[in-house]
Amino acid sequence: MPSTCGGVRAVRVLRLVVESTTTKTIFFRDFLCAGAVPGQFVMVWVPGVDEVPMSLSAIGHDGLCSITVARVGEATTALHKLKPGDKIGIRGPFGRGFTIHRGKCLVVGGGTGMAPLVPLIQRLEAAGAKVHVVLGARTTGEVILLEAVKRALKRGRLTVSTEDGSLGFKGLATEAAEELLRRESYDKIYACGREGLITRMLELAVKHDVDMEASLERFMKCGVGLCGSCCLGPYLVCRDGPVFDKKMLLEVSDELGRFRRDEAGRPIPVE
Ligand SMILES: Cc1cc2nc3c(=O)[nH]c(=O)nc-3n(C[C@H](O)[C@H](O)[C@H](O)COP(=O)(O)OP(=O)(O)OC[C@H]3O[C@@H](n4cnc5c(N)ncnc54)[C@H](O)[C@@H]3O)c2cc1C
Ligand code: FES
Repeated sequence: MPSTCGGVRAVRVLRLVVESTTTKTIFFRDFLCAGAVPGQFVMVWVPGVDEVPMSLSAIGHDGLCSITVARVGEATTALHKLKPGDKIGIRGPFGRGFTIHRGKCLVVGGGTGMAPLVPLIQRLEAAGAKVHVVLGARTTGEVILLEAVKRALKRGRLTVSTEDGSLGFKGLATEAAEELLRRESYDKIYACGREGLITRMLELAVKHDVDMEASLERFMKCGVGLCGSCCLGPYLVCRDGPVFDKKMLLEVSDELGRFRRDEAGRPIPVE
């Protein structure tokens, strides 16, 4: 796994793809990111605005990489306003990514949680794993990265779930995953999305005795294990994660899905 690559590199935005009314994928070329492990993240500096952590949603061997950004505040709004040719700063890739399991894998993602799962699916397929993906969203218009997932899935299967039933399975991604786990046995679960999705998948992993990895988010400033802003139990999410294995997830299960810390380090409830 590439280690921390501390310096900021200026990269030019090559292309923006509108995924939904609130989400865009931004492509750029960077050879350090090309060596990233799926699940690793970059710190993205928007000049004059802020620096924010983002998972890599594409990791091309030719250096073509992307981030998939939901517009939630100042920095992400500025990222949405970028045009091809504009420059942003990139630090990383940082952190611990997913490990690749060659057996039968259930990959469950919701919203921008699909971002780090797309390159993971590609690597799992390349390693010969048997993959079933559950891609969840509230409604059809919020389904993102569907074409990228389809491209990454060579032999694997895909279930799309929407909470309002407007596309695919009607219900939560975790409910679709629960049905699959009831019918079939899996060797490994990979999950990313809202913390409710991760805590439910952890319960199911325990119930069905399946190994699991999940990518977590906490407030990040330095991204390299120095400032302590991303602490979760005994861990620093930027250095020890963002991908946590089942043992680590169980260790932090008291905090997970309940509270996180804001910019000032104060505990606030997880929505
Ligand atoms: C490892 C990791 C990977 C992430 N990957 C993605 C991704 O692929 N796509 C995506 O859309 N978002 C991702 N995020 C979340 C993203 O970093 C925040 O949405 C972004 O920082 C919001 O910044 P803002 O200025 O637009 O919003 P603000 O108004 O500043 O914040 C809105 C909310 O975003 C979160 N946030 C803000 N700043 C940070 C920060 N420095 N670190 C962590 N969370 C923050 C907080 O929950 C805050 O309440 C990731 C976060 C982490 C930690
Ligand atoms: S963001 Fe500074 S220690 Fe994790």
